[in-house]
Amino acid sequence: MFKTLPGFRAFYPEDCARRNLIFGEWRKTAESFGFLEFDPPVLEQIELFTEKSGEEIRSQLFGFFDKGGREVSLRPEMTPSLARMVGERAGGIRRPVKWFAIGENYRYERQQKGRLRAFFQFNADILGEPSVNADAEVIALLISSLRALGLTSEHFKLRLGDRKLWALFLENEGVPEDKMTAVLSAIDKLEKVSEEAFLEIVGQALGAGESETGRLVSRVREFIKLSDIEEVGKAFDGGVVPRGEIGARLDDWRKLAKLLESLGVGEFVQPDLGIVRGLAYYTGFVFEAFQTVGKGRALAGGGRYDSLVGKFGYQDMPAVGFGMGDVTVADLLELVGLTRSRDTAAQVYVVIGGEQARPDALRLISCLRKSRFRVDYPLKQQNFGKQFAQASAIGARVAVVLGADELAGGYVKVKDLADSSEDKVSIECLEGYLRRKFGL
Ligand code: HAM
Repeated sequence: MFKTLPGFRAFYPEDCARRNLIFGEWRKTAESFGFLEFDPPVLEQIELFTEKSGEEIRSQLFGFFDKGGREVSLRPEMTPSLARMVGERAGGIRRPVKWFAIGENYRYERQQKGRLRAFFQFNADILGEPSVNADAEVIALLISSLRALGLTSEHFKLRLGDRKLWALFLENEGVPEDKMTAVLSAIDKLEKVSEEAFLEIVGQALGAGESETGRLVSRVREFIKLSDIEEVGKAFDGGVVPRGEIGARLDDWRKLAKLLESLGVGEFVQPDLGIVRGLAYYTGFVFEAFQTVGKGRALAGGGRYDSLVGKFGYQDMPAVGFGMGDVTVADLLELVGLTRSRDTAAQVYVVIGGEQARPDALRLISCLRKSRFRVDYPLKQQNFGKQFAQASAIGARVAVVLGADELAGGYVKVKDLADSSEDKVSIECLEGYLRRKFGL
């Protein structure tokens, strides 16, 4: 017997119906924000992912050599492919680029609740716009797409951090430029490891002794707790970074907060300098949406990555975006009783009264399908009882009966399967009758 591989899911029709409802809301919300859908390849040259995303992703790649001897990998995320696709057209592309994608990603991670090896992600990114207006737009889309699923500020919050502010802070504390990314990725682990382990990770990143590391770690611990902009400003007092630079960044924070208020999502956003993000390419505001009920898992994460396109060798292009996973979102919907499915059951079941009526029944079925009704019928000869039972079992709303008598008279009988009421409807009027009945 064969089993599904660890971390992979087999989607039965009922699972697809649930998943497609989520995808549908994501797609509708993205389109309502003026985003266009794109679709990158699932398999890429491995370097696309090993170059700029950082150590964590590198260790999780589903990589292998293909038959042509190329080293390739299933995509662990979509951002590098997006950067390449936009980079290839950077010369002539209309800006801002507002693109979204829904697709499966693959990471060879330790499987746990909410973390799989194959998971879907909804990605939405804006490229070509450096101002906080773009950050506000993607954050509003992230929040709106969760709200479209029925979730509210009781169920999730968005924690907003800032790698640019961290870079200024670390510079102010004397951390050399070339150690910045390593120290930031160490800070990303602060909430996840013990105090001793954290000291050790920072020490390694900094390449410094115990006392210097200890001093930095205690300053980091103070800084990370701050959530008030004015307090943040004071943490820079007496340092080397010019006040103007810090002031300009704090102004960005104020601007962003105002924009998010105006976009109607302010209540979801909490400043939190503990959010630095694991991926190495982020350069500015970074954010994660967390559920505030149950286990507090991450639903989505993203941020600004202004140098990725340029680092791939294309014309520089500022960028900001997020990825939202289907696993934790579906778990949360279930936890709070909001699971819904896309309605895919046939609306009409055509009951065929004798095999001689089958050709006419098929013609009728084909007309109804052309008009976009969902229609099903028996594939073999069956008595009426069996056909009606099947109509109910698949959740059809009506059974349309077509037999010799009906054919001779040019009409059908339509039985409402909920209340068993029956109408005689002429074949020409059937479509209009069904539209009215289904409220279409
Ligand atoms: P990420 O934080 O690695 O960011 O992933 C974003 C979301 O994808 C997570 O919050 C989580 O919901 C989901 N996710 C990640 N890994 C797994 C997994 N193993 N199993 C289930 N769900 C998972 C990125 O991927 C960035 N590329 C997002 C981005 C787009 N940044 C800018 N644009």
